[in-house]
Amino acid sequence: MAEPLKFCHLNGQLLPLDAARISPLDRSFLFGDGVYEVIPVYSGQLFRVADHLDRLARSAAALRLHDPHDRAQWRQLMEELVAANGGGDQYLYLQVSRGAEWGRNHTPLPQLAPTVFAFCSAWPQVRKAVFDEGLACITAADNRWGRCDIKSVALLGNVLLRQLAVDADAAETILLRDGQLTEGSSSTVHVVLDGVIVTPPNSPAILPGTSRRVIEELADQLGIARRDAPVTESQLRGAEEIWLSSATREVQPVTRLDGQPVGNGKPGPLWQRMHQAWQALKRQ
Ligand code: PDD
Repeated sequence: MAEPLKFCHLNGQLLPLDAARISPLDRSFLFGDGVYEVIPVYSGQLFRVADHLDRLARSAAALRLHDPHDRAQWRQLMEELVAANGGGDQYLYLQVSRGAEWGRNHTPLPQLAPTVFAFCSAWPQVRKAVFDEGLACITAADNRWGRCDIKSVALLGNVLLRQLAVDADAAETILLRDGQLTEGSSSTVHVVLDGVIVTPPNSPAILPGTSRRVIEELADQLGIARRDAPVTESQLRGAEEIWLSSATREVQPVTRLDGQPVGNGKPGPLWQRMHQAWQALKRQ
């Protein structure tokens, strides 16, 4: 786990993370009633911030949660926090919850002042072995709710599914629903089939990843074919390559699935190209 950095933002104030306090009656604590984003920061610059703010707005709208800031205010708030934490490479966690009311009521959608919280962590250093040898993953049945397209802080399903990977000494749990790939417990999953990058189409069953969009753009620049299409369990198990993508993983190769080698068991050539292109892009 990457160490959090010193300063956080709470409801308009910059303060040390260890001094931040919120009410135990905050609805994100009682009900998981809130949304969040995780945004990479490279050399002090927020990466793909417009995509993250678009998704935050969509998630908030899905909860009928009042978005307390406009775009310029969000950017300013985040840039101030990144600068206070020394810039460089980090990632920023941002959460908007519905706020605290006096008591506990299921009754939805009270008009409350949202709680806005953000903090930063040092960029997680990826072990060299991840790139040299790839990751081991397991599969499990996707038993999460029907609105996985909302980036909600109610992540218990994801947390319990990730625990299965930890129990199996694996890096991620890749999820299957009705015989088809959905995503990872905290990542988008891409497979390479006949030289084409195939990613399950966005739907209520998966989170629309921001890193997925980076992969789409880089694939087009590199001339690698790609398509959005359902991926069956047998296509997943027979894939030439499997990749995970997320804001904190960027793009990582999966080389073992449920103990079996993926392709020839080594990080694949298309992943190598994608990874190099990503490293070049982020330093631009
Ligand atoms: N999670 N799917 C799920 C379930 C996720 O939790 C994530 C990211 C993704 C990839 O989204 P993006 O490419 O925008 O990071 C897909 C973040 C990193 C997290 O919860 O920490």
